[in-house]
Amino acid sequence: MLGNSKLECLFLRIALALCILISCLSFGNAGITSTFIRSEWPSIDMPLDNDVFAIPKGHNAPQQVHITQGDYEGKAVIVSWVTPDDPGHNTVHYGTSDESYEFTAEGTVTNYTFYKYKSGYIHHCHVGDLKYNTKYYYKIGSGDSARKFWFQTPPKIDPDASYKFGIIGDLGQTFNSLSTLQHYMKSGGQTVLFLGDLSYADRYQFNDVGLRWDSWGRFAEKSAAYQPWIWSAGNHEIEYMPYMGEVEPFKSYIHRYLTPYLASKSSSPLWYAIRRASAHIIVLSAYSTFVKYTPQWHWLREELGRVDREKTPWLIVLMHVPIYNSNEAHFQEGESMQSVFESWFVKYRVDVVFAGHVHAYERSYRISSIHYNVSGDHHTIADKSAPVYITVGDGGNQEGLAGRFKDPQPEYSAFREASYGHSTLEIKNRTHAFYHWNRNDDGKKVATDEFILHNQYWGRNHRRRKLKKHIQMVIDEA
Ligand SMILES: *[C@@H]1O[C@H](CO)[C@@H](O)[C@H](O)[C@H]1NC(C)=O
Ligand SMILES: *[C@@H]1O[C@H](CO)[C@@H](O)[C@H](O)[C@H]1NC(C)=O
Ligand SMILES: *[C@@H]1O[C@H](CO)[C@@H](O)[C@H](O)[C@H]1NC(C)=O
Ligand SMILES: [Fe+2]
Repeated sequence: MLGNSKLECLFLRIALALCILISCLSFGNAGITSTFIRSEWPSIDMPLDNDVFAIPKGHNAPQQVHITQGDYEGKAVIVSWVTPDDPGHNTVHYGTSDESYEFTAEGTVTNYTFYKYKSGYIHHCHVGDLKYNTKYYYKIGSGDSARKFWFQTPPKIDPDASYKFGIIGDLGQTFNSLSTLQHYMKSGGQTVLFLGDLSYADRYQFNDVGLRWDSWGRFAEKSAAYQPWIWSAGNHEIEYMPYMGEVEPFKSYIHRYLTPYLASKSSSPLWYAIRRASAHIIVLSAYSTFVKYTPQWHWLREELGRVDREKTPWLIVLMHVPIYNSNEAHFQEGESMQSVFESWFVKYRVDVVFAGHVHAYERSYRISSIHYNVSGDHHTIADKSAPVYITVGDGGNQEGLAGRFKDPQPEYSAFREASYGHSTLEIKNRTHAFYHWNRNDDGKKVATDEFILHNQYWGRNHRRRKLKKHIQMVIDEA
């Protein structure tokens, strides 16, 4: 009898040890579904007479000022702004002190109509040949209506350059959007990776669509005029509105938000890449064709081949639709893109894929489903070569939160919470980056989910061995 129960006990211990081993092998910790509930602002757009939308004083004063990276390397910006009354000038005066704006750059002006709405004069000016790591002051507009801003250029491309990115998605223009933006601006982030769905102006009709793009431009200016926002397009940018006679996709977005797509040899402003500090950032369009042989597919294949992890260790992908999402909202919408691109993300060891679209926060473990095909059995397994997938669609737009998660939480899901907020990715060097998700907690910014991201290329053992071998060879040869 005694012997039997001892045996049983031993057996149980072995079984327990095996269980722990298996769970470690597959997904590490069990996932967390945060049940945090907070009194929140109602999900309604701020009224047009709110101060955040104020029109700058003076005749034809530039408004909706924003900048984005203007080249492949971080030595250029595109400055954009709108003048409401007449075309005015396309000139940007700039320099390294706010006393003298010693240089000038000339841009272009465009305008468009949307239903009966006529846009203001939209100016875009490429300002190039900038020095790295330098604060520039710039001035646009003329006379009493001139306005001044500044921005800081990034460090030169270097594998150990440290840099702090902010990540914001699905922002909109509600009181929650304002809270997110204000919290982000206190985070020390140097550049925003924007995950699509900017203004939600398409929730309006007729002339109000254009007016809400204008108000959003004035709202985002407080950050976007001073640091680059790296744009990607969401479904709310499509604006296919046949009942108003508007059938040209992305019309407002493309007129207003330029991207440096030619610098990465892309044929469309909707997908492109930039390199900044130690990061190579790839922007994809979930609402353009991407299946095999399409331009986006060809371009991505070429671009992944251009990534040099010796120069830019961090490989980051931005797209609007999440590939891994356990929310009831938009469930499985990313599967078509997953079937085309996921195997590349694993092959090229992408560090992290950021998406928006779902109005909640979710982070996955390193996982993939590529060892099984999508049309067949769909198995998701732990995969050390795969990216981490993070959904940050919780900027705060008027559609409100996506509060219903699938139950039970899938094994691939590490953390999920339906609250508003933003993320930051603070790259330290070629091996380490600190990641935070910050919830908007009634006026406070609260770091709620955090982890250390180890680089997929430099953080791996085989790479270190290779480096050691290389150093040994150099020593032997000397
Ligand atoms: C753009 O502005 C010009 C000059 O004011 C005007 O003549 C033209 O009609 C405008 N075009 C559109 C598409 O609004
Ligand atoms: C995909 O999965 C199905 C069903 O499991 C299988 O019959 C088929 O051979 C698989 N195709 C590929 C290309 O692996
Ligand atoms: C990289 O940064 C991490 C985190 O700050 C630090 O622990 C590590 O020592 C750094 N590596 C090098 C080579 O400096
Ligand atoms: Fe969306």
